[in-house]
Amino acid sequence: MKTAPFFILLFLFVISSCCRYETDDVMIIPQPQQIEISNSAFVFDSGVEINYPNNEELAVQATYFSELVFNSFGLKLETKQIEDNNSHRGIFIKLNSDYEDFADEGYSLIIEKNKIVIEASSPKGSFYGLQSLYQILLSGNRIDDSDKIVVPTLEITDEPLFPYRGMHLDVCRHMFPVEFVKKYIDLLAFYKFNTFHWHLTEDQGWRIEIKKYPKLAEISSMRKETLIGHYGDKPQKFDGKPYGGYYTQDEVREIVKYAADRQITVIPEIEMPGHSLAALAAYPELGCTGGPYEVATKWGVFEDIYCTKEQTFEFLENVLLEVMELFPSKYIHIGGDEAPKSRWKECSACQDVIVREGLKDEHELQSYFIQRMEKYLNSHGRSIIGWDEILEGGLAPNATVMSWRGTEGGIAAAKQDHDAIMTPGSHCYFDHYQADRKTEPIAIGGFTTLEKVYSYEPVPDSLTNEEALRILGAQGNVWTEYMETPEYVEYMVLPRMAALSEVTWTGDKNWDLFKNKIFTHFEYYDRMGYNYCDHPFETK
Ligand code: ACM
Ligand code: ZN
Repeated sequence: MKTAPFFILLFLFVISSCCRYETDDVMIIPQPQQIEISNSAFVFDSGVEINYPNNEELAVQATYFSELVFNSFGLKLETKQIEDNNSHRGIFIKLNSDYEDFADEGYSLIIEKNKIVIEASSPKGSFYGLQSLYQILLSGNRIDDSDKIVVPTLEITDEPLFPYRGMHLDVCRHMFPVEFVKKYIDLLAFYKFNTFHWHLTEDQGWRIEIKKYPKLAEISSMRKETLIGHYGDKPQKFDGKPYGGYYTQDEVREIVKYAADRQITVIPEIEMPGHSLAALAAYPELGCTGGPYEVATKWGVFEDIYCTKEQTFEFLENVLLEVMELFPSKYIHIGGDEAPKSRWKECSACQDVIVREGLKDEHELQSYFIQRMEKYLNSHGRSIIGWDEILEGGLAPNATVMSWRGTEGGIAAAKQDHDAIMTPGSHCYFDHYQADRKTEPIAIGGFTTLEKVYSYEPVPDSLTNEEALRILGAQGNVWTEYMETPEYVEYMVLPRMAALSEVTWTGDKNWDLFKNKIFTHFEYYDRMGYNYCDHPFETK
């Protein structure tokens, strides 16, 4: 025990020196609305218990927090269900739907010398309180050779700016293992995103098992080869290797549950009427020409889309019935983007529908298609989201528009009293280059720096205050044509999704403060095992 006196001295030194914290030393992203630091410290060690009241979701949160701390620091914190006992040193999670001070997703986090209290009116709020506490621990002072971490005493009051904070992932152009999808969801949780938009069907692959249509798994999930290099390279070259895969319904359930445990809703996207070549390869009778069709081997937009005959609606309704059983989300995303009309123009079945329904043209036919699907989903208690092309030919009555070709779609939707989610290519497409393209790994194009993402304001200036309420939030899109591996997906989203988290959460953004924090977050990524772009400040 010879080292004990020295250790005690060191400990006292760290305790006393820690108390010179300033507000800006707390490296939480997204920046909480209010932080007040006081002049003392709480010491984490294995004696700290996580206490929670009798609530299943809070039990899950306490365990998740304990796992995060163990994985990051090797520090084991016990979790314990208790009634209202805060007599001992520990973390206390308190939930009370009567807390009028907190919005649905808001929370307060108070760190005192002897206890930490997280209060919220819903499990969403308490989850975000725990995420903030985890980030505070990551930036805490680890006392060498001990299991002690010192964090400042403080008070945080926090709630998000927007109700929709999303990240998307295309698993069709390239597919990723279940374990990676979970790791990606952990990252969403870390940055307080509440929605995972899972892009499951495409020309290049169908990735979700549908029991009624087994050929979607057998045929639509596989392509015979894949384009090598950039789409624009001449001549185009292919790798000659079959590529594919799909998520079984059990795996989908596992992922939906994993996300729900982290207060994240998964919105599935089943594309229609375009981006459907993989489905047509297995069920050619659903196309206008009858095929044969092949699962696409290169990127882009394809002329062959679902025909508007009755058989297609029957197919899609059956698919959506299974999808709704797997995903409890209010929203189902039905795509709607990039559907060329050339086949419909030449198809007698499609032209018959135009006549039968008294439609003006193929744009109205697309609108008819989407409205029918909306009616079906509405009748099952769900709402649709579609890409901004669903505005063309008339918006379905209850649709939410995802504005991707700029902000005009979102503006038009809001002005027509529809909800909108902003995801313009200019700021929210994380498949774009983020640094000098001469030295970066291959990407689709564009140039969307960290600062550009950070500068984004989801509510367009041209909206009135009332219309502005229709802007539910924003989302980062991750199209994976050029992202073959999980590591590369991580590289493209980190640190840009950190910037987007402040866009959607923080009322009073501060770029200089964010820039300062992001270097500390690089250390977190290292500790948590994520790949990232460590040079996000290049300007060309
Ligand atoms: C899209 O990027 N085609 C929505
Ligand atoms: Zn047709």
